[in-house]
Amino acid sequence: MTNNIIIFDTTLRDGEQSPGASLDINEKVQIARQLALLNVDVIEAGFPVSSPGDFESVSRIAQEIRGVSVSGLARAVEKDIDSAAKALEKAEKPRIHVFLATSEIHRKYKLLKAKEEIIHLAVKGVRHARKYVDDVEFSPEDASRTELDFLIQVVEAVIGAGARTVNIPDTVGYAVPDHYAAIIRGLKEHVKNIGKAIISVHCHNDLGLAVANSLAAIKAGAQQVECTINGIGERAGNAALEEIVMAMKTRHDFYQRSTRIVTRELIATSRLVSTLTGLRVQRNKAIVGENAFAHQSGVHQDGVIKERTTYEIMKPEDVGYLKTRLVLGKLSGRNALKTRIKELGYELSDSEFERAFEEFKHIADKKKEIFDEDIEAIIGIEKMEVPHIFQLESLSISYGPNTVPTAGVRLKLQDGRLVDNATIGDGPIDALFKAIDLSTGIPGKLQDYNIRAVTSGKDAMGEVFVNIEVDGKTIGGRAVSTDIIEASAKAYLNAVNKVAAMKVK
Ligand code: KIV
Ligand code: ZN
Repeated sequence: MTNNIIIFDTTLRDGEQSPGASLDINEKVQIARQLALLNVDVIEAGFPVSSPGDFESVSRIAQEIRGVSVSGLARAVEKDIDSAAKALEKAEKPRIHVFLATSEIHRKYKLLKAKEEIIHLAVKGVRHARKYVDDVEFSPEDASRTELDFLIQVVEAVIGAGARTVNIPDTVGYAVPDHYAAIIRGLKEHVKNIGKAIISVHCHNDLGLAVANSLAAIKAGAQQVECTINGIGERAGNAALEEIVMAMKTRHDFYQRSTRIVTRELIATSRLVSTLTGLRVQRNKAIVGENAFAHQSGVHQDGVIKERTTYEIMKPEDVGYLKTRLVLGKLSGRNALKTRIKELGYELSDSEFERAFEEFKHIADKKKEIFDEDIEAIIGIEKMEVPHIFQLESLSISYGPNTVPTAGVRLKLQDGRLVDNATIGDGPIDALFKAIDLSTGIPGKLQDYNIRAVTSGKDAMGEVFVNIEVDGKTIGGRAVSTDIIEASAKAYLNAVNKVAAMKVK
């Protein structure tokens, strides 16, 4: 058995199923590029049959990403598998991931199928996928609530049909570490052909045990872990990649297993996923939270100054925290910004850099100190590759006690024309978005509005994230500014520009 644990990242598939997350194709490709830098072994890029957008993002990622396996999800039915195979046509290392539920609850209420039929369909699905690719993974959905003797039969049958990886999902986060480890041991002991396949684990976090369960399974002999950046995913999420990887690295004495992950890319990856999905990372989140390496109490600070290891079990640099936080300001030039962007691990095209520099100057005029987080927020916006079909020229807002909130906006169109509109609303932001709707002719229904300070201090930049619904589709938009009203208008326009770009296509 190899000493390396295979890291299968499903941020773009299970992670994107997080309520509140919506990624467009360009954003998914960007995340895939960063996952490749992080050196994950497998990227699950999506569920191709589920929507044309998912199909296109899987095929673009398959076409572009090299050196990493790219996986597409499929139910155990031919049309799903055909769609996954087509989306993966250009992949250097394609994997088709077939799943079918096996637990009694799912058999009885969802599938209305007997055990024999489940085995038949699972085998048929795997055989069909093997017609396209050698690398086929099978997941018996809700495995942790499946009778162990039946799970053993299913796993043996799909390996016999050609599955190279058998994944054991704890779909509803029901398992606890000893129980989950016992399932893995049971499979190792009783599935006759288990040596022909990799055992994989996939844990959800409903009881807050996804990482603990995954690690217990590794200890019991699992060789692949499925996880997501920042632990995002359905309901309470999936096992967090960064926590599993750093647990194995920090406690190598115990696990005796390694990964190929370039851990210094963890922070950059976490921030990119958080910025693009709009799902914020809690301050006290292990490894990537803002407080993960911050020491507050005097006793702890004294200890760390005397000897870091008194209160730190990992080095901040090992996960990608940079020591210097404050670097740039109003007087900094192109070269300084370029160097800092490079140090932060980003690559920008010339035009992206020029736009980022322009935005940097604009912000530096209003904000004394520019922190790494500010720069990352600017880059996040510039990398979105959204055409500026409608640009904000100016805005005015009036509101206060006993007045009707009113907003006026002036937008610039691509042909240079200016459009002015003013209207009232239930509050200043409502009025602002309504005035934008009037000017663009694309009325959006606001589903989500989030605002956060990128850094601390009175002059901190505000980052606004919105989700709007247009024609039944949810589209996300983001923007940053030292003025939160301006950031709100720009975030809304960012989403509207995505819709407008789709309409133009
Ligand atoms: O949680 C789950 O069961 C899944 C499968 C599709 C692998 O995500
Ligand atoms: Zn899942």
